[in-house]
Amino acid sequence: MAETGTHIETAKKLLEAGEVIGIPTETVYGLAGNALDPEAVLKIFRVKNRPSFDPLIVHTDTLGKVEQFVKTLPDPARRLADRFWPGPLTLLLPKKPVIPDLVTSGLDHVAVRIPNHPLTLQLLARLDFPLAAPSANPFGYISPTAAGHVVDQLGDQIPYVLDGGSSQVGIESTIIGFSEGGPVVYRLGGMSLEQLEKVVGKVSVRSHSTSNPKAPGMLSSHYAPRIPVVLQTPEAALKDHLPERIGVLAFRHISPLIPAEQQQILSPAGDETEAARHLFAAMRSLDAMNIDIIVAELLPDMGLGRAVNDRLRRAAVKL
Ligand code: TXA
Ligand code: MG
Repeated sequence: MAETGTHIETAKKLLEAGEVIGIPTETVYGLAGNALDPEAVLKIFRVKNRPSFDPLIVHTDTLGKVEQFVKTLPDPARRLADRFWPGPLTLLLPKKPVIPDLVTSGLDHVAVRIPNHPLTLQLLARLDFPLAAPSANPFGYISPTAAGHVVDQLGDQIPYVLDGGSSQVGIESTIIGFSEGGPVVYRLGGMSLEQLEKVVGKVSVRSHSTSNPKAPGMLSSHYAPRIPVVLQTPEAALKDHLPERIGVLAFRHISPLIPAEQQQILSPAGDETEAARHLFAAMRSLDAMNIDIIVAELLPDMGLGRAVNDRLRRAAVKL
């Protein structure tokens, strides 16, 4: 069973020995291994049960190190990096051969991020290789936002989880690429479109395309609890689903129609950023309840509300 602790030296030694471990970031916890070591990268895919056509994000701690493994940094990418790194933003950049093809699933661009978490930044500063790290959940399930979530699901397969407390952003990073037509967001995430557009002007969003070869992992049925999710009001659900036991994932308000202990409120104050922080833990606790269905409410389409809605819509897709 994985040990949990705050020892950077333990984490460093394990990673140098080719192991994969859990690491905290401000978005979600990552399942990290040496990005330059194909054996370690293979282990990541195996532990997560992730298909090898779904590429991994590479994490490091300085722009200087990023430049060692990407060919160029287009001007808008540099401006975003200067403004938002370390932070919840991933840039798609042309890779140098030093990054194994396994990391990018054979694509010629690598996804790169400098995460904003003090423990992980210290760890990255002491390593002489970058870390490949997908979210530390079994493929298709809800991403972890606490060390305990990682231990619960992957603890029997990894030796260590570096415990950095609860993830402060709570949803995965925004992924952005740079085409001739301008910047393109492939995954909505912890950095809002409004923030990005202040720095690089209009960006287009292609996160819902299911035929997008650039982000094959961004398909439906991601972030999904075991219990089916429907996007409905509790009132409508009561009409449609009686006598099933209903759980509620609400933005601001508790519903008088459903027992309070079967409800999770994301932000009583109505703040999309706070709602994002609480989203995945709320989904997990509903998933552990004795209920038949989760009724979820969409947020206003602004700020991180868009990214939360994206997660809810994907969770609600039934196979
Ligand atoms: O916030 C985050 O981004 C977290 C933390 C741990 O950094 N990581 C994360 O990784 O969410 P993951 O693997 O769960 O999601 C990364 C997504 C993948 O689904 C993949 O499709 C896309 O990023 N991606 C990775 N490399 C890519 C590439 N070279 N080109 C296009 N998309 C890529
Ligand atoms: Mg993931």
